[in-house]
Amino acid sequence: MTATLIAGIAELVTNDELLDGADQSERLGRLTNAAVVVQDGVIAWVGPAARAPEADERRDLGGRAVVPGFVDSHSHLVFAGDRSAEFAARMAGVRYDGGGIVNSVNATRAATDDELRSLVGSRVAEMRAQGTTTVEIKSGYGLTVEDEVRSLRIAGEFTTETTFLGAHAVPPEFVGRRSDYVELVIGEMLSACAPHARWIDVFCEPHSAHAFTEEEARVVLSAGRDAGLGLRVHGNQLGDGPGVRLAVEMGAASVDHCTFLSGADIDALAGAAGTTVATLLPAVEFSTRSPYPNARHLLDAGVSIALATDCNPGTSYSSSIPFAIALAVREMGLTPGEALRAATVGSAKSLQRNDIGVIRTGNPADMSVLEAPSYLHVSYRAGVPIASSLELVAEH
Ligand code: NIG
Ligand code: FE
Repeated sequence: MTATLIAGIAELVTNDELLDGADQSERLGRLTNAAVVVQDGVIAWVGPAARAPEADERRDLGGRAVVPGFVDSHSHLVFAGDRSAEFAARMAGVRYDGGGIVNSVNATRAATDDELRSLVGSRVAEMRAQGTTTVEIKSGYGLTVEDEVRSLRIAGEFTTETTFLGAHAVPPEFVGRRSDYVELVIGEMLSACAPHARWIDVFCEPHSAHAFTEEEARVVLSAGRDAGLGLRVHGNQLGDGPGVRLAVEMGAASVDHCTFLSGADIDALAGAAGTTVATLLPAVEFSTRSPYPNARHLLDAGVSIALATDCNPGTSYSSSIPFAIALAVREMGLTPGEALRAATVGSAKSLQRNDIGVIRTGNPADMSVLEAPSYLHVSYRAGVPIASSLELVAEH
């Protein structure tokens, strides 16, 4: 039982709204000249450095800022292949329609377990190097019983937040037989995948011929719920649609993208703020040249929001939460503090986790260190790698 005192913290953002003596503007629970004691991976004490207790060891961060580890609540890291040409075509004006998913499916099916494991491992390492300490990982590029199970098994080697996304796209061998594929997803595939997943997700998008309709999505989510999985939805990505409405109706923990929202969608999300989080993925709007949703409007309406990367080979090959935060500030109307909260405590809520996203006694010591004196620098210094998870930071 070694206790380590982490000192030299110029600014500590805890997100703890009850922390004694903290600055609670923007609900950030902010302390200056702070210290944290960590014992066996758990936070044992948080407070001003001047009142820090004795500990077995001491680390000095030399005036850096510390924030809660970023929670990336939406990613698709289990894939092989390269779709950079698709990105280049989009930048030249081609619209995204989900048709490229099949390219990743073919490459993923052809990869060995070790190849996939190594690809996922590098992507997770890339995330940690940018300050992410929790990541949700979806399947969805296998789309056979065997390939979905192995995607989830490999994802499970890196996180407990695994999501079964068999309903990502209708695979090539089922084109023209959509209902047969939905039957497979809710039958044999779900039974095989449920033991390896915490969540089920569906790409509900009537604007894509490759994705699923409202009715198909409802059937998939109901079956997932019956199998004991929590619900997540890809919704309202390519145009107005039923995804948000369906997610709220079914009590999903999260509806993700929310690029195109009607007034009724916003009202529904505000009414469901205790249950359903709207997860915003601004790197997708960036990488598909889509309009950014107005996050300011959502917060003002009382919607619970989260920010994540959606790291995937098609619409957002970015593993960077700091990039998502910078975009949310510059393009979606959030303050730097609101964006930071969305990517930490907001994303934690979308995963129904109250042990992460807040630096508080008793929580795991998931913290990110900034090569900067204040959290404002995350968006101020966009594109500069100033954030990394605490254990990767060498002492000054
Ligand atoms: O979240 N929209 C659905 N799925 C992914 C993209 C999949 C792909 O194009 O490979 C997303 O944007
Ligand atoms: Fe996604």
